[in-house]
Amino acid sequence: MHSNPKVPAPMALMEMIGNGSFAQAIYVAAKLGIADTLAAGPLDATAIATRIDADADAVFRLLRLLSSRGVFQQEPDGRFALNELSDPLRSDAEVSIRPWSLFIGSPEHREHWSHLDDAVRTGAAVVPALRGMSFFEFTRSNPEFGKVFNDSQTSVSELTLRAVLASYDFAPFPTIVDIGGGNGRLIGEVLAQTPGSRGILYDTPPVVAGASERLTPVADRCSIEGGSFFDGVPAGGDAYILKHVLHNWNDEQALTILGNVKQVMSPQSRLLVIEILLPEGNAPNLGFLTDLNLLALFGGKERTEREYRDLLAAAGFEITGIVPTPAAVSVLEARLA
Ligand SMILES: C[S@@+](CC[C@H](N)C(=O)[O-])C[C@H]1O[C@@H](n2cnc3c(N)ncnc32)[C@H](O)[C@@H]1O
Repeated sequence: MHSNPKVPAPMALMEMIGNGSFAQAIYVAAKLGIADTLAAGPLDATAIATRIDADADAVFRLLRLLSSRGVFQQEPDGRFALNELSDPLRSDAEVSIRPWSLFIGSPEHREHWSHLDDAVRTGAAVVPALRGMSFFEFTRSNPEFGKVFNDSQTSVSELTLRAVLASYDFAPFPTIVDIGGGNGRLIGEVLAQTPGSRGILYDTPPVVAGASERLTPVADRCSIEGGSFFDGVPAGGDAYILKHVLHNWNDEQALTILGNVKQVMSPQSRLLVIEILLPEGNAPNLGFLTDLNLLALFGGKERTEREYRDLLAAAGFEITGIVPTPAAVSVLEARLA
């Protein structure tokens, strides 16, 4: 029995099939900056259309659809207003989801997902066959899309960052290395919270090139190194963070990354894997969707706790603790086995 027995099954299925179009309607609102336009207060469709240079009737129809499902709200006088679900579409919302919507709705991402059937047939990423290069190489060769992707990662990272900082104490580690640490947001915040620690940000050279400005407040305690974690990682860390890194890769690639971290770790140092832990079974979970995304883009996967235990054990680690956070991610703490 599907979730709403009052709706005939074919209709319920049609509604689900329409979810992709609904996501694209949210993307259009994000792209046109409609939430930003409404930040000062409610407006009717004509006033919104004037401000964003769009067609008034089409704006009305877009917002009628979105507000019918709770994204924006329509006032009794017909004007449209921000509400709880549309507020995060503002560019300057405390945690803005606008960059995530701009990525998911982008033509490049939609083209990748239009080949999901290939990923399901082969079990491999679709991007290499389509673009002739890996997803990360594609973001580098197409800087405009690369920025859309990197901004989307920064925006969702923000969601988990606070939860991780509130749940896990990094202070015991004198030197903390963030492997695949992107633009340095996490290591910057960790070091701001732990004045006694030093940090190393490690990512590919083009990515770390943009990090020094962000790390200015902790520049005297943080060094930046560019390289590939498939070749090696910086030595000397007491903690090695891998946040949202392993899920981008299949088990074989993940084992290579873990092997390179293992090579430079001492018996006292700790590996900190920060990832979503999928539940066993199939109770609704956002992770099942991100899992398919990881398959299509990278040939990667979200993993259950059991799968991480197996992966880490195969790489020569043993888990010493699992710290859940209020966000969807957990911190898996491990040492050399
Ligand atoms: C999903 S992002 C996670 C970024 C960051 N840890 C976070 O949680 O926001 C994956 C990161 O891995 C980096 N990366 C990809 N391939 C890499 C490689 N071969 N060596 C080092 N970093 C790499 C990417 O540049 C990106 O910053």
